[in-house]
Amino acid sequence: MGPLSFSLLRILGDGKLHTIDFLAQSLKVSQSLITNTIDDIKRNGINVSTTPNACYQWPNPINWLDDNKILSYLNQANFPFHLIVLDAIDSTNRFLLNQVITAPQILQKNPVIITELQTHGRGRLGRRWYSGLGDSLTFSLLWRFDRPVQQLSGLSLAIGVAIIRALKQYGIAGFTLKWPNDVLFRFCKLAGILIELSNDNDKRTGSFVVIGIGLNIQLSSFAKENIDQAFVDLFSITGRPINRNKLLAILLSELATVLNDFNHLGFGYFRNEWIHYHAYEGKSVFITQPDGLLVEGFVDGVEYDGSITLTLETGKKRTYTSGELCLRKGK
Ligand code: BTN
Repeated sequence: MGPLSFSLLRILGDGKLHTIDFLAQSLKVSQSLITNTIDDIKRNGINVSTTPNACYQWPNPINWLDDNKILSYLNQANFPFHLIVLDAIDSTNRFLLNQVITAPQILQKNPVIITELQTHGRGRLGRRWYSGLGDSLTFSLLWRFDRPVQQLSGLSLAIGVAIIRALKQYGIAGFTLKWPNDVLFRFCKLAGILIELSNDNDKRTGSFVVIGIGLNIQLSSFAKENIDQAFVDLFSITGRPINRNKLLAILLSELATVLNDFNHLGFGYFRNEWIHYHAYEGKSVFITQPDGLLVEGFVDGVEYDGSITLTLETGKKRTYTSGELCLRKGK
C-alpha cells in the first residue's frame, strides 16, 4: 500500500461515513483515484465498507502509533532511544541493518523503527513473521554494547525477560518464556525476538546489534490465516482493546533497563528470573538440532551463556546452544 492509501486510511480512521467527494477534495486527487486506492486497501484485507451511493467507512479502524503519544508515557530525561514511526516497510530489521551501512551516523542515536505494516517480516531460522496493518507491535532497535559480539550470548533470552516485565507493568500477567526466546501464553506464542548482528562489528571492542520484536496485539484475519503455529494475541487474552502507544512506551523503557544491565553484567544477571518464567522447565522435551538430529530429555535450567541443559534418559546432562524445543506428549 502506498502513501495515498495511508492518507485515506487516516481520514477514515475516525470510523465515520465519508463521501467520495469529500475524500477526493481532502486529498486533492480525482474520485477515480480514490476508488482505485480503496480497492487496493481492500485487497490488503482491510475492511473498508462502501455504500451504494459511494460513501466509505472503516468501521473498526486501528489505533495509530504516534511518537508524541509514546513519548508522553515516558520519563523522557532518561529515554535513550530515537523513535521513527513508519507507515509501511518490508522488515524493520532489514531496514536498520541496511542503515548501519548506508547511514552510519544513525549509530549514535539508538534508533527504534516501528511500523504500522510490515510486509515481509523476518522470523527465526529463516521463517516469515506475519502481521497485518496495526494488528501488532513490529519494531526493531539498534543498540551498541561495550562487549564484543562473542560476549553477547544469552542476549535474546534477556530480551524475553524485558517483554514479560513490560506486560506485567502494563497490567497483564500469566506469560511465560520458551527457550530460546518466544513469549507464550498457555503455550501459545504471543511474541518473537530476532537478533541480527551488523557485519560492521569490530570483533575486539563494542558491537552493534539489531533487536527485532514482533508482538501480537489484535491479529487480523490475514495474519491468522498465515501463522503456522499455536498463537495468541493480547486482545483475545484480555478481551479489551490494547493501547499500543502506552505498551510500546513501557516496553522500550524495560528494554533500556535490560540492555544496560546486560551490557554491564551479561545474561548471568537475568538467569534465575529467566528460569522462573520458563514454561518448559522440568518438562520432558525433545530438541531438534540444526542438523535435524533429535535429542530427548528433561529441561534442567539454562546456563550463564543462555544455552539450555537437558538431563538425558541415561542421567547425563547435556547443554545445547541452538535448536527448536518441543514438548513430548504424554510425558
Ligand atoms: C521469531 O521467529 O520468533 C522472531 C520474530 C521476529 C519478528 C520481528 S517483527 C519486527 C522485526 N522485523 C523483522 O523483520 N522481524 C522482527
